[in-house]
Parts: sequence; C-alpha cells; structure tokens
Amino acid sequence: MHEHNKIYPPNPEFAAQARIKSMDEYHALMNEAKEDYEGFWKKYADEKIDWLAPYDKVLDESDAPFYKWFTNGKLNVTIQCIDRHLKEKADQTAILFEGDRGDIEKISYQELSVKVNKFANLLKEKFGVKKGDRVVLYMPMIPEAAYAMLACARIGAIHSVVFGGFSAEALRDRIDDAGAKLVITADGAYRKGKPYLLKPVVDKALESGAESVEAVLVVERNRELIDWVEGRDHKYYELIEVMSPVCEPEMMDSEDPLFLLYTSGSTGKPKGVQHAQAGYILWAQMTMEWVFDIKEGDVYWCTADIGWITGHTYIVYGPLAAGTTTVMFEGVPTYPDAGRAWKMVEEHKISQFYTAPTAIRVLHTMGPDEPKKYDLSTLKVLGTVGEPIDPPAWIWYHDVVGGGRCAVVDTWWQTETGGHMISPLPGATPIKPSCATFPLPGIMAEILQRDGSPVETGETGLLCITKPWPSMIRTIWGDPERFKKSYFGDVVKDGKPVYFSGDGAMMDEDGYITITGRVDDVINVSGHRLGTAEIEAAVAEDEHIAEVAVVGKPHPIKGESIFIYVVPKEGHVNPDIKKHINTLIAQEIGNIAKADDIVEVPGLPKTRSGKIMRRILRAIAKGEEIKQDISTLEDPSIVGKIQEAVRQATQND
Ligand code: WTA
Repeated sequence: MHEHNKIYPPNPEFAAQARIKSMDEYHALMNEAKEDYEGFWKKYADEKIDWLAPYDKVLDESDAPFYKWFTNGKLNVTIQCIDRHLKEKADQTAILFEGDRGDIEKISYQELSVKVNKFANLLKEKFGVKKGDRVVLYMPMIPEAAYAMLACARIGAIHSVVFGGFSAEALRDRIDDAGAKLVITADGAYRKGKPYLLKPVVDKALESGAESVEAVLVVERNRELIDWVEGRDHKYYELIEVMSPVCEPEMMDSEDPLFLLYTSGSTGKPKGVQHAQAGYILWAQMTMEWVFDIKEGDVYWCTADIGWITGHTYIVYGPLAAGTTTVMFEGVPTYPDAGRAWKMVEEHKISQFYTAPTAIRVLHTMGPDEPKKYDLSTLKVLGTVGEPIDPPAWIWYHDVVGGGRCAVVDTWWQTETGGHMISPLPGATPIKPSCATFPLPGIMAEILQRDGSPVETGETGLLCITKPWPSMIRTIWGDPERFKKSYFGDVVKDGKPVYFSGDGAMMDEDGYITITGRVDDVINVSGHRLGTAEIEAAVAEDEHIAEVAVVGKPHPIKGESIFIYVVPKEGHVNPDIKKHINTLIAQEIGNIAKADDIVEVPGLPKTRSGKIMRRILRAIAKGEEIKQDISTLEDPSIVGKIQEAVRQATQND
C-alpha cells in the first residue's frame, strides 16, 4: 500500500479523553442534526452562549437566502470571550504574545478585560464611535490588534481588519466601501529582526479619498519616525491610560453585524463579507472544542494573520470563547532559522498547532530534521487550512512534527463560512492524508452538479452546503444582490438555491471528501485568496497594455503562483515589462499579488463571442498539451503562438 493511501486511525489514548471519541459518536451527532436540525442547534446555543436575553426562533428562513439565527436574542461576544471567564480563570493567560525578536508578553483574562474595556471607552469617548459604526484595523500581529477587535465588539462597532500586506490603494478601497469613521493602525512592527512601517500606508490611503475617516489611532509598536497629521492622528499610549477599565457591554442582537472582512471573488472588487454575532461566536467556540479538542491547560497556537478569517475565528474569537490560551506571534516561522516554530512549541508547551500548507512545505524544505531537535511532546493536534495539502507535506507533518502521535486535521472552510465545515475529528476520524474527510456534525455538505443532482463517487463536483448554518455569511456589505448572485446563484437543489462555495470536491467510495480547489476564477497563493479579475484590473491600469489574462499555475511551495499573459498595444516594446507590471500590482493590491510569470503574447485565445478561454491559458501555463477542441476559437492559430512565447520566456528566465 502506498503511504498516502494509508488510513491513520485516531490515537487511542487521545480518543479516550476526546470530546467526540468515535465515528459512532460522530454519526449519532450527525443523525441528531438530520432528524431535528433546529433542535440540534438549539441545544448548543442554550448550553454554550451566555445570553443577555433569550432568542425566540432558532432559524428564520422566511427571507432566504438572508437566513437569521437565534432571532431577537441578546448577547455580547466579549462576555463570551472575556467576562464569563473571570470567575474561574482571571489569572490564566488569555493571550501569549511572542514578538519577532523573542520578546514575550502574557496577558491574563483579567488583564485582557481591562485592556478591552479601556480601549472600548477610548473608542466611545475620544472618537465618538457608536454601535453600527465601522472601524478599519490595519495592524501588525500584536495584542493591541486583538484588543481593538474586541473593543469594537464590546460597544457594537463593526470592525473590518485589512491585512497589513495590502497596499494603500487596496486599503483605501476597503475603507471607502465600509465607510469607516476611524482607522486603527501601528507605527510599524518587526519582521525578520528589522522594523518595518505601516502608518505611511494609511497616510497614503487617506490622501486619495477615504473621506469618511475622521481620525487615525496609532499604536506605538516600534517607535520609528513617522509623519504625523495634527488633529487627525492620535497616540494610543497617550490616551489609553486615563480611560476607565469598566465599559458596559452593548446589548447586541443575535443578527447585528459583528465584523466585515473583505475577500476576493471571481468578479469585480473585493466583497465585504458580513458576519453576525450569535451564530458566529457559537460555531467558533464549538469548532475549537470539537476540531482542536481544547481542554483546560492547553496552549493553542494558530500562525495565521488577524487580517484573514483564520486569524479572526481561530486566534481571537474561537480560542477566547473557549477560554484557552491563544498564542499570537509577530514574526515568521523561518526567522532566525527553520527551527523558530518548533522552539516556540517547546518553550510555550503548545498543545495544538494550526498553520497553512505553504508554511509546512517551507519548513519541510528548509529543515526536514529541525523538529527532532526540540521537545514537541506537548503537541496533541496539528491543523492545516487555506489550501490543499499534498501527501508528502501531510506525512512529514504527521510523522516528524507530530511524532506519529498527533491527529492532523485538514480543515476546509472559507471566509464566508465563519468556521470549519469539513474536517477530521482528532479523536474519532480515521484519517486519509490530504483529505478533509467528513462534514462536521450539523453541517450538510454535498457535492452536486449545477442542477442539484449528486455527482458519482470519484467524480469532481461543486462543493455545496445545502442547509444554512449559524456562522454563515449574512450578506455582502452594501450589496445584497451580489451576495445572492455570488453564493446562491449557481446550484439549485429541489427548487431551492443552495450555498455554493466556489470549490470543487470529490467523494471516494468510503465517503471521504477531498477538496480539489477553486472552480471559479479565484487563485490561492500561499493560502491567500486572490481574484484574477482584480489582478487583471490592476494590470490594465498600464496604458501600454491592450489585453491581459491572469491564471494560476501549480507551484511546489505556494500551492499556486500567478501567471500573467499580456498583449501590448501595437508597436509597444518594454524590456522591463515584468518588473513594471509587478510594481503596478504591488501598488494597486499589494506584494502578495505579484506574479511569478509575465509573458507577452500576440493575442489571447477567444471564442467567436469574445470570451477568453482560460482553460487553454491554464494548460499552457502548466506546460500541458492542449487536448480540447480549439476549432471554435476565433483564431485557432493563436494557441501555437502563445505556446511559443511561453517557451521562449521560460528559456530566458
Ligand atoms: C481554500 C480560509 C483545500 C478553498 C479559511 C476555499 C482549502 C478557500 C482548505 C477559502 C483546505 C481552505 N483544503 N482548500 N483544507 N481550506 N481552502 O476565504 O479554496 O481565505 O474556498 O478562508 O481556501 O479561503 P479563505
């Protein structure tokens, strides 16, 4: 048997103490959900959430697909994440911060409460932030980022965290779309031993629009020299000290928005994915308990950035709701060397480690034997997220990092799902490497065709969630029509539109689900979601370019890399085209969207109706033979010309 066809049963010792101990228990839970869907969710909502006022309906489907959960219930997620823990774990570390340079700060639940309440008062008193106002965060990975998110939640403001790798233009577009009143940032932070700056990006974003912004709050992290706009810019440490440590939590409705998080789709500008309060926090906590099996005394580390959904749900909201210790790391796992992450696991006695396949591949390549130098015996569960993980990376993670003892949970989910959807349960699921295995209890995932009929076993189909779930996206900020079209427009089952994820998936004869990747025009580079349309729009800003098409190309470390075909305008020659276009992309979107390949071609393969045949472009980028019929193209000879241009470009590289 091939190693990656092997099935890895759960570690019996771990299973014995796990919350879900066997597949029988898993099936029992799933059957409960199937028999009485609302009853299933009611049980957990009643047991897990500290309600300020009871809800009257579990699920309201009257305005589908604008589903509502736990209607008219009142709560505040910061009570769930902080206040209710103060009785028993006031002194337990809530956030364990490690800086890039190795500086460590431990913030107890009691201290977290003080920090968040003061911050909340600052937002209210100094900046007049009110319930429903939008606050944009452009922050490094420092505890103040988490305080800021929770402070917004405390007073009912809607935060929108923008990943620190996005450019000023991208930041401004998001501020404008959200209509944010305040931007919270830092002067800068540290990466790979050196200071870098963030505030200048905010300055630049505000120069060219972002009219809604009244003030900028700057957390002093590295105290590098930055420009200052008197009256607009404010120093966090100067203001925070005098704030009262008591801020009454706002009574929030279950369905009030908690946050927006912008993500890429297959068309147009980024979408502000809107999440609600009760359903989101419920599922964040439940998945921490089921998928990571969080227990008292655990130290949990997720390496994501808070600028992504993984950072929201699995660094801040989920771990704190579960009352665990969550590690926040400012640096990168390869600095000062490939042992950094493992050294941290040893020093902090990490019990659950959650990262992206790209990081695993980098660490595997850079230091395959590095984990053996450290005591990793505290690890119990290893997680991956963001992109498909290949068997060699999975097996190394399992055997070398986990010592063959830890379950590797390959968690499939999305910004829109709020939390894990398909994942092994570490104490129950016999795992096949590189396989997300089964939907979690309560999640009705199906692999369908457009007409709602199921695909055959072993065939790739569209990954859909056929029943609403509590932590689902509520709408796209300011664009409910786009919400409907993006997620409930493609697949109709039994006359009803169902949620389509944009991913393809396959089920094997044992019912295991493998994610095959996006089926729309979204590329996944190192676990970062990028829309081809956005990159094309950035490149099209160049006045010398007539046409552009962007596709993804498989990459051994990043999963996918960006491959750009450009058609220059008649007679235009630019020997530096690659550099030039990447500069443009960095400016419009950010460094994360830079292309590995940029090839000048004489034209693009188009149908007679003018549609670009991306499938052909993807195949050429991969160096594959073109098997499909090209006679329907307007100019079939273009295919050979593009292949030749790509061949030459690769030779020159
Ligand atoms: C991909 C990240 C394979 C998928 C939480 C999805 C995955 C997109 C996995 C969402 C996985 C996420 N295996 N692919 N375990 N997890 N993806 O919104 O294509 O940043 O649609 O959320 O990442 O990316 P997003």
